[in-house]
Amino acid sequence: MRKQSKQPTNQKPFLKTKVPGSLSHKLREQEEINLAPGLQNFALMAGIVVSEARGNLVTDVDGNSFLDIIGGIGVNGLGHSHPDFVQAITEQAKKVSVGSFTSQVRVDLLEEVKKVAPTKDLNKLQLYSSGAEAVESALRLAKCYTQKSEFVSFWGGFHGKTMGALSLMGSEFKNGLGPMVPGSHIVPYAYCYRCPLKLKYPSCGMACMDLARKQIKQSSTGKIAGIIVEPMQGTAGNIIPPKEFLPIVKEIAREMDALLISDEMITGFGRTGLMWGVSHTNTEPDIVTLGKQFGGGFPVSGVLSTESIMKSLPWGNPSGSSSSYGGNPLASAAACASIRVINEEELVNNSKIVGAYFLEKLLSFKEKFSFVGDVRGLGLFIGIEMVENKESCAPLSKKTCSRIFYECLNRGLLTMAYTSCFRIQPAMTIDKLTVDTVVQILEEVFVMIDKDHRK
Ligand SMILES: Cc1ncc(COP(=O)(O)O)c(C=O)c1O
Repeated sequence: MRKQSKQPTNQKPFLKTKVPGSLSHKLREQEEINLAPGLQNFALMAGIVVSEARGNLVTDVDGNSFLDIIGGIGVNGLGHSHPDFVQAITEQAKKVSVGSFTSQVRVDLLEEVKKVAPTKDLNKLQLYSSGAEAVESALRLAKCYTQKSEFVSFWGGFHGKTMGALSLMGSEFKNGLGPMVPGSHIVPYAYCYRCPLKLKYPSCGMACMDLARKQIKQSSTGKIAGIIVEPMQGTAGNIIPPKEFLPIVKEIAREMDALLISDEMITGFGRTGLMWGVSHTNTEPDIVTLGKQFGGGFPVSGVLSTESIMKSLPWGNPSGSSSSYGGNPLASAAACASIRVINEEELVNNSKIVGAYFLEKLLSFKEKFSFVGDVRGLGLFIGIEMVENKESCAPLSKKTCSRIFYECLNRGLLTMAYTSCFRIQPAMTIDKLTVDTVVQILEEVFVMIDKDHRK
């Protein structure tokens, strides 16, 4: 029997004031005076000021409690403020919190990661603080090992906002920020709902990958150090490619004598119902980048690879791969607690079972609602594609998406429904009763939107 989660179950929203309430409003105004622009969209739109949170429930300073299916965009694996996580960092903070000397918790953390690594060969870890930082380090590592300098990434791919990662970002986010790092090649992802070749799976025979292969060969100088890929794409809309996709990417990497870098920032640690995104197809990456729910909310990330790759120089020289905060005692305690809770409470399995339950309920939306074009998911990684028209698949207007966001907010549900690729990733501790409440709110809002959309 699965050990009972220490997080609360059957959580429900409760609104005391209109949202945002007056206390939130006042504090947001005060913050706005000193805070630079560019905060995450949903935080700006919601306008709430959070005072505390537990499990999947977030309470603001006005006493309103919201169900949270944003989950820090994949950070909130354990649920907000899991008691074991709180205890681990509190105790560690009392002992030692700064520096890169070896600590007992870091030794423990490395052992824990080794136990759950995608393959036995991936047995060396370096630690960082943000996803982008880990990705940059993985790119440097691939260059050192292969002695080559070009990289391949995918349309829709997101690997962070630092210069190397940005150059490999498959979206218009880079507009106005050029020039990019030379030798960055971006090829189509197997995004079947919006097939880059307008074909249908499986009769397409994965033609997008033939195109990718040809494009890499023709646009590169043949010096590909690595192919970086999200096994399932998060930022692009929680997209799940067909099972053939990753093995073909690996095949292309081998043909080019390049390393396969699996960016598991979002898909790692059970989010998709197995420990890793690559586990769904038994694809063996050469380098894995970790982050988000790795630290249970503490900023921890990492690069995992094999001994022979990691001793490449200069990456492997003293101070060659280090950083100020990487693997510090507090970060190590947080990540160690996070992995232990994931294992003890069998959260990977919970993600699979409750995720399938959630998905099944949402799949009915495709038939019921005129603006729901696609519903997909693996574990607690779910995407709803909202469209103006099911034939043209044109994305639902920003105005209607915003309306959905606010209608949910005003019923106590925090969502990412402000864009047409509505992404859902609650804490992996979520239970079926809480999912029922979430679905009930979504259904109420969708019924209302559908009426107007059909007019
Ligand atoms: C797949 C992936 N890689 C890297 C990153 C960058 O992580 P961070 O925001 O911690 O720099 C993200 C962030 O969303 C991500 O989704």
